[in-house]
Amino acid sequence: MPRAKVGFIGTGLMGLPMAQNLIRKGFPLTVHTRTRSKAQSLLDAGALWADTPAECAKDADFVITMVPDTPDVQQVLLGEQGVIRAAKSGTVVIDMSTISPSATRAMAADLLARGIHMLDAPVSGGVKGAIEGTLSIMVGGRSEVLEKARPVLEAMGQNIVYCGDHGQGQMTKLCNQVAIASHMIAAAEAVVLARKAGLDPHALIRAIGAGAAGSWVINVLGPRMADHDFEPGFMIKLLQKDLRLVMQAASELSVPLPGTALAHQLYAALEAEGRGDEGTQALARVFERLAGLAVDGS
Ligand SMILES: NC(=O)c1ccc[n+]([C@@H]2O[C@H](COP(=O)([O-])OP(=O)(O)OC[C@H]3O[C@@H](n4cnc5c(N)ncnc54)[C@H](OP(=O)(O)O)[C@@H]3O)[C@@H](O)[C@H]2O)c1
Repeated sequence: MPRAKVGFIGTGLMGLPMAQNLIRKGFPLTVHTRTRSKAQSLLDAGALWADTPAECAKDADFVITMVPDTPDVQQVLLGEQGVIRAAKSGTVVIDMSTISPSATRAMAADLLARGIHMLDAPVSGGVKGAIEGTLSIMVGGRSEVLEKARPVLEAMGQNIVYCGDHGQGQMTKLCNQVAIASHMIAAAEAVVLARKAGLDPHALIRAIGAGAAGSWVINVLGPRMADHDFEPGFMIKLLQKDLRLVMQAASELSVPLPGTALAHQLYAALEAEGRGDEGTQALARVFERLAGLAVDGS
């Protein structure tokens, strides 16, 4: 049976390896992204180029979006040259970016009025999970649409969880970011204490990473904190975008989140220094300064 045609919009740090996995699994792919050079390796691997999101959606059965923020998804889906202008009835839009749950619900309604289905399907697992095709995918929308989209999602992720109606995938992802925020503080504090105590932070991570304190954050980002490798897998400015969405949702639901608020403020200190494009593991810089330890390059 021929593979469904997929349009892919947004080939940045996450989108590029996700699109590569779709090609590897045999899906005919058309790509569009703001900076064409960032899609070159996909074009070399056989993907077709589209100049606009509308062109990308024209012949597609599924259109995936992986762009930074809510206004970006709105522009790509509903803008003058957006997906809605050209997608055929029955097309399924899968938004895998992390954005506002309420804006997601509104977009799903606008698309449905044109016969286009939408799933919100944000992910967790980082660039590592995107490369390895092991992402966790949190899905909101109609369950029968998820079943139609499942083979496409399975090319990019392993743990595909149905979370409820439109927006509930995004709400699940916001809960994920709440857990991540406090994990980041925990990992940074442990690595900095180890360093000041004269321990080898890599030995620390080997020792605790397989025990009760083990986590993705400790095992994947802990070594980068130890090495002062602050190259982005996930940029601080994108985590801050997520934490703003979290704090708004928490406020609407009257849920105090003191741990998340602390992380949000500590990251604001890094943004104030112009470090929003660094990886989230750069939180170690803040704790090293508090402990009187110099950080390379700062
Ligand atoms: N990185 C992670 O570990 C991670 C993990 C889970 C979820 N996420 C979420 O996944 C989404 C993407 O993150 P990322 O890290 O891949 O970000 P990124 O590296 O900035 O990639 C986003 C891509 O979208 C492109 N883009 C932006 N606006 C566009 C538009 N209007 N039309 C077409 N293309 C557009 C950007 O183009 P340019 O290249 O020109 O900037 C960029 O290449 C975000 O919502 C993020 O929160 C990220």
